[in-house]
Amino acid sequence: MKKALITGITGQDGSYLAEFLLSREYEVHGIIRIASNFNTQRINHIYMDPHAAGARLFLHYGDLSDSDQISNIVHNIHPGEIYHLGAQTHVRVSFDTAEYTGNITGLGATRILDNIRVSGRNIRFYQASSSELFGNSPGPQNENTPFRPRSPYAASKLYAYWITVGYRDGYGIFASNGILFNHESPRRGETFVTRKVTRAIANIISGKQNKLYLGNLSAKRDWGYAPEYVEAMWNILQQKEPNDYVIGTGEAHSVEEFVNLAFEYAGLNPKKYLEIDKRYFRPTEVEALIADTGKAKKELGWQPKIAFKELTKIMVDADMRAAGLKPVGEGDRIIKEKFPNRWWQKD
Ligand code: NAP
Ligand code: GDD
Repeated sequence: MKKALITGITGQDGSYLAEFLLSREYEVHGIIRIASNFNTQRINHIYMDPHAAGARLFLHYGDLSDSDQISNIVHNIHPGEIYHLGAQTHVRVSFDTAEYTGNITGLGATRILDNIRVSGRNIRFYQASSSELFGNSPGPQNENTPFRPRSPYAASKLYAYWITVGYRDGYGIFASNGILFNHESPRRGETFVTRKVTRAIANIISGKQNKLYLGNLSAKRDWGYAPEYVEAMWNILQQKEPNDYVIGTGEAHSVEEFVNLAFEYAGLNPKKYLEIDKRYFRPTEVEALIADTGKAKKELGWQPKIAFKELTKIMVDADMRAAGLKPVGEGDRIIKEKFPNRWWQKD
């Protein structure tokens, strides 16, 4: 049985990836942080009692700041593949927590890679690199576009990107970077802009919120659908040779477009509710990200099915359902049509 270790298994991508790997008959191990409250909401539906016959999902306490814990986990599990997704992932927050972000988002990768090196085992390593690396390099961005990071988060990811390349070239480790553009879902963290908007819509209709405060509306992002992106991660580790790949949709839209589309889909006029609050602006912004995914299409055969408009509808429907409201319905229909045999459970 194939065995995988996922850091960041409690996050958006980690939870989908765990579900995907379980559907592929993997034994899945995940690292979770100790917290004063449960932080496993995204994986509760796939959790199995480890004593139960046939259990294939196992959770281990660990923190990416703690080399000894990481070392014990890697040593005891002997995974064939490690998906390193754990990180402080919020770009705006990284300006307030620059050192911490460097420690977790940057050095965390070294802590894992060095364990692979010392173990001498044949362990494949996936680094969750980000389109934030490109910063203000003009798009469309591909694997040859210069990196110009614009935040402590992006600078930390830059370090992790190059340490991954360095361990591949220097020690022959199968280590690959997936340079993923923004990807969203009903499991997206509530403080990222798409989810903040779709949750606000459900709250406004429910009468629990009457204003939505946002920052820069003009920034453009290449937004895709997270379940499709975790398939790309797996695909990257199944290649003959390690390599680095850009993953995105090739379409860019502004935050304002997302807001308008989402509100109008739900039958609301955004002008009535939207306010700008300077606290959500960043000292340095990444204005436009758009992926050139030619290499991934050619070498991985990877192509997304869900584009911007569909993603927006899927997220609005999911947040309406979560709030006990009747979804508009198009998002649900799109999922049914495009993924008749989907491997993830309903969000
Ligand atoms: P996410 O939802 O924010 O999840 C982050 C995960 O990292 C959570 O499981 C979190 O645990 C864990 N984590 C944070 N600090 C940790 C620490 N000190 N020790 C151990 N675990 C820690 O992020 P995501 O959207 O799934 O993204 C997954 C990865 O892809 C991240 O590395 C992110 O930077 C990268 N990425 C994401 C995107 C995107 O658009 N989503 C695009 C490009 C790259 P808790 O649940 O306990 O907080
Ligand atoms: N979060 C947030 N909150 N962003 C806002 C807001 C707001 O109230 N108002 C405007 N924005 C703008 C941000 O300034 C940014 O330009 C854009 O919305 C997207 O912000 P986020 O959703 O926070 O995502 P991100 O692009 O900064 O980072 C995400 O994608 C990266 C890949 O490009 C994160 O998932 C990163 O971890 C990931 O690497």
